[in-house]
Amino acid sequence: MCGIVGYAGARPALGIVLDGLRRLEYRGYDSAGVAVINSGLLSCKRSGKLTNLDKALAELSANGGDGGLVTGTTGIGHTRWATHGPPTDRNAHPHQSTNGRIAVIHNGIIENFATLRAELEAAGVEFASDTDTECVAHMLAAELTALEEGSPHQAPAPAGVPASGTVPNKGPLLGVSFEEGSPVQAEHVSRVPSSKPGEVLAEAMRRVCRRLEGAFTLLVVDKEAPGVVVGARRDSPLVVGRGEDGNYLASDVSAFIAHTREAVELGQDQVVTITADAVEITDFRGEPAAGRDFHVDWDATAAEKGGYDYFMLKEIAEQPRAVADTLRGRLSDTGQIMLDEVRVSEQDLRDVDKIFIVACGTAYHAGLVAKYAIEHWTRIPCEVELASEFRYRDPVLDRTTMVVAISQSGETMDTLMALRHAKEQHARVLAICNTNGSTIPRESDAVLYTHAGPEIAVASTKAFLTQLIACYLVGLHLAQVRGIMYADEVATIVSQLQEMPGKVDSVLDVMEPVRQLGRELAGSPSVLFIGRHVGYPVALEGALKLKELAYMHAEGFAAGELKHGPIALIDNGTPVVCVVPSPVGRSVLHDKIVSNLQEVRARGARTIVIAEEGDEAVAAYADHLVRVPRTPTLLAPLVTTVPLQVLACEIASARGHDVDQPRNLAKSVTVE
Ligand code: F6R
Repeated sequence: MCGIVGYAGARPALGIVLDGLRRLEYRGYDSAGVAVINSGLLSCKRSGKLTNLDKALAELSANGGDGGLVTGTTGIGHTRWATHGPPTDRNAHPHQSTNGRIAVIHNGIIENFATLRAELEAAGVEFASDTDTECVAHMLAAELTALEEGSPHQAPAPAGVPASGTVPNKGPLLGVSFEEGSPVQAEHVSRVPSSKPGEVLAEAMRRVCRRLEGAFTLLVVDKEAPGVVVGARRDSPLVVGRGEDGNYLASDVSAFIAHTREAVELGQDQVVTITADAVEITDFRGEPAAGRDFHVDWDATAAEKGGYDYFMLKEIAEQPRAVADTLRGRLSDTGQIMLDEVRVSEQDLRDVDKIFIVACGTAYHAGLVAKYAIEHWTRIPCEVELASEFRYRDPVLDRTTMVVAISQSGETMDTLMALRHAKEQHARVLAICNTNGSTIPRESDAVLYTHAGPEIAVASTKAFLTQLIACYLVGLHLAQVRGIMYADEVATIVSQLQEMPGKVDSVLDVMEPVRQLGRELAGSPSVLFIGRHVGYPVALEGALKLKELAYMHAEGFAAGELKHGPIALIDNGTPVVCVVPSPVGRSVLHDKIVSNLQEVRARGARTIVIAEEGDEAVAAYADHLVRVPRTPTLLAPLVTTVPLQVLACEIASARGHDVDQPRNLAKSVTVE
């Protein structure tokens, strides 16, 4: 939800920032903008995708120059997912102070913005946008003025707007803005007892942050502090990249991975100042603070399309590798399942008597599958909850409750808030996450990382499969710690899991008929998905993929529920995708779904049947039969989901949609 990138160094910033934005565009693509410091503050922003900004910048260059935008070595950039104000040019970031001195970009929501805006307006500030972010720009300008005038106290928000001698700059929002005069003289800066570049700006940022409520990542550049970018974060992601020729700030490491793999995870409520050769971190009070250094274990090629038309296609194809990587090294020499970080005792794990899984969207569907495996293996009751609902219904939690938070990004606000609620009630929290350096694992008692690599397409695919693997491992770990499963039983299931990359691969090999079917179904008004047992969450996931990518009506149902209402939706030719459980071992389940298939066919449905190799009983009821390899029932979602991903992707592209960036969505949802 909004991508943010900043650079301070020796090289021209614009190219670095734009390249970073390209890698972050999956986070939001309503508008994009940049600001560069180069003998003044230069900014350009446009509504729509990043290509619109690229075009605007190219026109500027063609029309005789950009005023130094291309050569400045300090810059920030933003790609937006709109919250406050529609996705127009004027609401695009960066936002500038009225005096044109500073430019700010922001991810998150400033919840007290109405109060702050009213204060600023009462003091005569005229707003140039509808955003909450613009308040921060004006407040920072006020704090800078107060600091430079020697005020020891935090200035009230509206104070000091703008300093005399400034060039009023009410229209810096479109095109490049060239600032002629410097509104704050050098001697003002020298009144602040500091020799460090950016220290005044950092102090202004701390003062402002103390007044803000809500979630935010902020980056600011100041034309009076060339060579400096100051950032701040609360409940919203921001990582530092330590480079040899400069330092970086970004919403996630993919923005700077082409330049450095050495990163620093910032803590909550921290302010960071980067220059070409230094990174300084404090808390919001100004006390020195430290981040957590980490090395990124994938490189820039992982965040490229690699010859595929869409990231989603690449990520679907990467699933065998992602599954294998998530499994690698999980079984110790003594047969124990290994998590990545465990800050909770084995006794606490043994004491767990109730499990809640909290997650959103696709990750929630992974949780629904996990419930079957965890309850079966551990015999601990396990509930799965939408993270956005969890804390509002006052769930019964205590020390013996384990809450499993599943999140690809590690930043989903709904999941983070559910996690925090659980911790307040003294529950133990275990995170399943794909993003090192993100908030959810940092705030959890134990972590299992999925090694899916960067997932860029907005629709989750490889993250889902690796979340399933992680859930199975968590279930096995709990069963083992509690002495419910012996090492050899665990090892048997682990070896079944280790066969899954090959099985997923074999599904991918036979997807051409599914793609063909996708093209045929592109004109259907609606597609229904049905399943039983672990096939039910797979049906939900298939429907979600189709909704978000193809903008079609799609719904997933427990097959047994059809006759209680939804069967009325079926008309002549309505496509119904049916996820059939294995006939081996659970034949009752299988028989029931065969009946469901007959019921929908009797009402005219066109059936698309996902069934195991060798399951001949379903063939007679399938208009289209998609075969998956024989797999233990609990693990079947690892193969049955894949054709549904391919189907949704193909239908969406046949309908002419941008598969990687579906409308109205963003990859990382950092607002509630
Ligand atoms: C759907 C999708 C979303 C995410 C959800 C949670 O394809 O990607 O439904 O699964 O927003 O995101 P994370 O896993 O980052 O918490």
